[in-house]
Amino acid sequence: MSLAQAAKNIRENAYVPYSGFKVGAAVRTPDGDIFCGVNVENVAYPEGTCAEAGAIAAMVAAGQTEIAEVYVIADSPDPVPPCGGCRQKLAEFAQGTVKVTMATLGGQEKTVTVADLLPGAFGKGHMDLG
Ligand code: THU
Repeated sequence: MSLAQAAKNIRENAYVPYSGFKVGAAVRTPDGDIFCGVNVENVAYPEGTCAEAGAIAAMVAAGQTEIAEVYVIADSPDPVPPCGGCRQKLAEFAQGTVKVTMATLGGQEKTVTVADLLPGAFGKGHMDLG
């Protein structure tokens, strides 16, 4: 199954009683494995989690820590960009050159890179002692 189809299918399972805004995310690893996630909201609103975070958690739980490609889909007028926190989460496991495709149910797609989403990202190197 394609990354796009995986994200589109999983989106249906999003738990969104508060926003009604379903998001599906899928990440592909260098081995070609696909891991998916949905947004999971909570009555204590800040406890909700994004679709990207769910996909990353599934990947790590399966023992993988490298993202080769990302796809995010929602029923929005324009392709939905990952939130700031998810940009940092993606950067933990993806090189800056990794492609992130944002899509709408209507068929629009926009592809950027992880570096486009998070220029000047805080990384492991910033913790090297001088
Ligand atoms: N959301 C995601 O899951 N991913 C994004 O990239 C943007 C926002 C979710 C969080 C919340 O459940 C809903 O969309 C509205 O913000």
